[in-house]
Amino acid sequence: MPAETARHPQIPGARIIDGRAVAAGLRARLAEAIAAAPFAPRLDVILVGADPASAVYVKAKEKAAREAGMVSQIHRLPAETGQAELLALIARLNADATVDGILVQLPLPAQIDQVAVIEAIDPAKDVDGFTLTNVGRLAAGLPGLVPCTPRGCMVLLRETLGDLRGKRAVVVGRSAIVGRPMAQLLVQADCTVAIAHSRSADPAGECRTADIVVAAAGRAGLVTADWIGPGAAVIDVGINRLADGRLVGDVAFEKVAAIAGAITPVPGGVGPMTIACLLENTLEAARRRRGLPLAAAAE
Ligand code: GUN
Repeated sequence: MPAETARHPQIPGARIIDGRAVAAGLRARLAEAIAAAPFAPRLDVILVGADPASAVYVKAKEKAAREAGMVSQIHRLPAETGQAELLALIARLNADATVDGILVQLPLPAQIDQVAVIEAIDPAKDVDGFTLTNVGRLAAGLPGLVPCTPRGCMVLLRETLGDLRGKRAVVVGRSAIVGRPMAQLLVQADCTVAIAHSRSADPAGECRTADIVVAAAGRAGLVTADWIGPGAAVIDVGINRLADGRLVGDVAFEKVAAIAGAITPVPGGVGPMTIACLLENTLEAARRRRGLPLAAAAE
């Protein structure tokens, strides 16, 4: 039974969804599946330039991949790298049969055409799920590689609510990386879905009637208590650095937690799930490329 249905109705306060714990469980299951497999999946990550946040993310991805028993390599290129050079590296990794997953860390320097670079990645190795082939497969409801953050949000929602069929879900934000694929995955799970965005007439009103709110607008504290209906599940994808150095989500956590049925904290909610799902995508890509059925171990 989902924990929030077991709570006393007179005692307010949301269940805090522990993304670190769920991610650790998923990573442990993936490590087991990899240890039992006759091959080690390989993830190659490309980092162009020296953006400090990107450097931290890339290092974390490499470490997590290695801890799960994968082979992982970072390709560090200088900030002034030209597009042709980057495309040549991607072509080499596409052709290398030992490489299962290719990830180009974003953002890229201004001289590089991001769409052209992403499109150069073999869709079978596109573990971010960013190529138009994988975007199209998701929109068409066909199997493919799904972007890691929305995939992680779905794991947390299933963990929290169980069956999602018939739930009303509102996604706040329409980015290609999170908002749009998130809405597609919720539709696939038989939710009734709306996307609210910066031009919506009444985003708070849309959210107030929802069973599920996924906040992915990239605006600190945008979603306040008056946006949330009693008992709703709130997933906060935002990672915003305040002037005082604090890291906060898109949701005003304390006030919303008094009304919601369940809520993810920032940090420690969606963030850890993104890397765990990157590993899951890499194992999936490795199995598909070898003609093996997708591991049930991680589900
Ligand atoms: N930069 C910020 N988030 C991401 C992500 O999910 N994938 C890649 N490749 N770059 C990012």
